[in-house]
Amino acid sequence: MSAILSPPANAPEVRFEPLTLFRLDDVLDVECSAYSHPWTRGNFTDAMASGYQAQLLMAGDQLLGYFVAMMGVDEVHLLNITVAPAFQKQGWARVLLDALALWARGRGAQWLWLEVRVSNERALHVYQAHGFRRVGERKRYYPAPAGQREDAVVMSLPL
Ligand SMILES: CC(C)(COP(=O)(O)OP(=O)(O)OC[C@H]1O[C@@H](n2cnc3c(N)ncnc32)[C@H](O)[C@@H]1OP(=O)(O)O)[C@@H](O)C(=O)NCCC(=O)NCCS
Repeated sequence: MSAILSPPANAPEVRFEPLTLFRLDDVLDVECSAYSHPWTRGNFTDAMASGYQAQLLMAGDQLLGYFVAMMGVDEVHLLNITVAPAFQKQGWARVLLDALALWARGRGAQWLWLEVRVSNERALHVYQAHGFRRVGERKRYYPAPAGQREDAVVMSLPL
């Protein structure tokens, strides 16, 4: 863990733990505060039921962020990565992406893949800084306000 990161005051430890129903309300609170079109409770329980890798980054009982990823044949698809708004711009996304890459390598994956909204400049910046490269676009992939759709940028990272 880098010394420049600043966990909440008096946090006993920063650690990962798997998503369970016990923490799902906390995850939904963060999810709804972080996205215009958040995942639903059903999206998360489906992910758990499907055996996807869903890890929470915790500081004591404080949820800092989480990721959800799906194993493919020789690649891992990142489905959700979120840092709680109060802890954004402190470098936690890198911690989440490093943990994801470590798990994916351990499963024998050769690539990480993800989609991101074309308008999500902050996430695009974070992924590029982490070594992801743009490999394509998916037209009208995401829901957008007023019944519109938004394109996705597809990015990948060799492991
Ligand atoms: C995207 C997200 C995961 C990044 O997490 P984070 O912990 O805040 O990220 P970091 O602290 O590592 O870094 C943020 C970086 O973006 C930069 N940044 C901030 N706003 C930016 C903007 N509008 N355009 C470009 N870069 C921006 C910061 O300067 C920082 O860059 P640096 O590391 O070079 O200083 C987080 O903002 C988040 O959860 N957003 C809402 C959910 C989301 O969009 N998830 C991704 C879906 S694909």
